[in-house]
Amino acid sequence: MNLRIEELINSNKQWAAQFEANNPGIFDKLVKQQNPEYLWIGCSDSRVPANTIVGLQPGEVFVHRNIANLVNHSDLNVLSVIEFAVKVLKVKDIILCGHYGCGGVQAALERSEHGIVDNWLRVIKDTYRANMKHFHEVESEKEELDLLCEINVVEQVRNICHTSIVQNAWLAGDKLSVHGVIYCIGDGLLKDLEVTTSSIDEIESIYQIQTK
Ligand code: CO
Repeated sequence: MNLRIEELINSNKQWAAQFEANNPGIFDKLVKQQNPEYLWIGCSDSRVPANTIVGLQPGEVFVHRNIANLVNHSDLNVLSVIEFAVKVLKVKDIILCGHYGCGGVQAALERSEHGIVDNWLRVIKDTYRANMKHFHEVESEKEELDLLCEINVVEQVRNICHTSIVQNAWLAGDKLSVHGVIYCIGDGLLKDLEVTTSSIDEIESIYQIQTK
């Protein structure tokens, strides 16, 4: 489907009317505040729309997406999103969502040049190198890609936990969990990678902020 902008605006009119009909007063309520319980960090891939795949409505999830769902410590964009979500919105759960067959992860596995994005994706090569031992048993390129997609999620969960934002929230006694999940485009299902982290004691000591 390739809708022109006029068609999108018409489609939006229908959506807004339907949404209000199903949820009377919803727009008045949303105008006053947003009160999402979740922060979602996922891939920009058009097949992995945050609200849709977990059945959440406008106002229910704060979202950040970028190519290959990366959380880099020098990325002011993602750090600002995490800070706002944790300190102001007081979300209780941060969900890092990757997906199998991610084009960004695939590009990082290749040797060819793709453009500016190669600089963005280079940390995935670092992750591959640091986890080389896990790749000895893979039997196909697809398996290699999917394993790296999973490991990349785990690595980004760590990166979120290593931020001073999340650690300071924990030190202040806030209830905050960071989860790693991966989405399968082929069946629409999410898998929990079971790396949920909810306290400062669960992260490696080299990254821990010391209490004074
Ligand atoms: Co992707």
